[in-house]
Amino acid sequence: MTTTLTIRRPDDWHVHLRDGALLKGVVPHTARQFARAIVMPNLNPPMVDVAGVAAYRDRILAALAQSAPDAKFTPLMTLYLTDGTDPDEVARGFAEGVFVAAKLYPAHATTGSAHGVTDIAKIYPVLERMAKIGMPLLVHGEVTDAHVDIFDREAVFIDRTMTRLVEDLPGLKIVFEHITTAEAAAFVESAGPNVAATITPQHLQINRNAMLVGGIRPHAYCLPVAKREHHRLALRKLATSGFSRVFLGTDTAPHARHLKEAACGCAGLFNAPFALESYVTVFDEEGALDRFEAFASLNGPAFYGMPVNEDTITLVREPVEVPSEYDCASTLIVPFHAGETLGWRFVG
Ligand code: DOR
Ligand code: ZN
Repeated sequence: MTTTLTIRRPDDWHVHLRDGALLKGVVPHTARQFARAIVMPNLNPPMVDVAGVAAYRDRILAALAQSAPDAKFTPLMTLYLTDGTDPDEVARGFAEGVFVAAKLYPAHATTGSAHGVTDIAKIYPVLERMAKIGMPLLVHGEVTDAHVDIFDREAVFIDRTMTRLVEDLPGLKIVFEHITTAEAAAFVESAGPNVAATITPQHLQINRNAMLVGGIRPHAYCLPVAKREHHRLALRKLATSGFSRVFLGTDTAPHARHLKEAACGCAGLFNAPFALESYVTVFDEEGALDRFEAFASLNGPAFYGMPVNEDTITLVREPVEVPSEYDCASTLIVPFHAGETLGWRFVG
């Protein structure tokens, strides 16, 4: 039985680092495990131009210098697309290396998406320019139509938007973020080389029962929401299959405990502290430890056209207890797997 796993240092291709004091509290958790991370731009106000994204990157670096001075961590920044995004601004920020990708939030799909795109047709000039310059589009793939059941919103997005987008712009690199359904897994598998997906640890670990059985459990609530068991099994199959266009993206999305344990609780799981332990448990259970490095450390850089990391990390088969909460710069946050004992330990 494998008791030690050493792999190239992974990257996290989807994180929310927040801003201000909370940023200082949460960024060390991501920087401890990962070399690089794609930082989502859904702040309030959102990161909609080159200057705003550059300033946010500098705040992240300053927070790291204070809270994790030894970390060798690079934030990979993203631009938030709106109906009014200017293609020239997008191309300039990409050329200057300020951001590496742009995020499409359908307006009102999730936290911080109020300024998102109301109709994808409105940003076709931006998307055409992105295809031309080889800049990836990161997609929150859910429709926002009030008539569509929340558990169906990803599958309906594929039918109404994603299929057409891929047909119209075959040259555009697209990451279908945090996929949660068998439909999305099948879509990505059958798509061409320019379409990839990220998968979170929670969507590999839990189905919707975790949120709703025995009481309503706000710490299992994120968007897209966890689906039925057969979807979870399809995601586990894809993630552990060795397929090259699927990679690690935690969607760590910290919210204060009191904002989740509320009559209208926020969406998002704080999974950064034990992200690798959670993922490796899934690969172990599926008999796919030999495929973990590709998912965590190789497939993402290959899709984004970046070098892989040179250093390594080690995980050992040992019990590790997940704390029931973290004090992140005076904000109390409940982590994913709170109070559980996991079977793998990250040793750095
Ligand atoms: O659960 C989520 N939380 N999903 C998202 O898409 C956004 C995120 C957040 O920023 O809190
Ligand atoms: Zn996210």
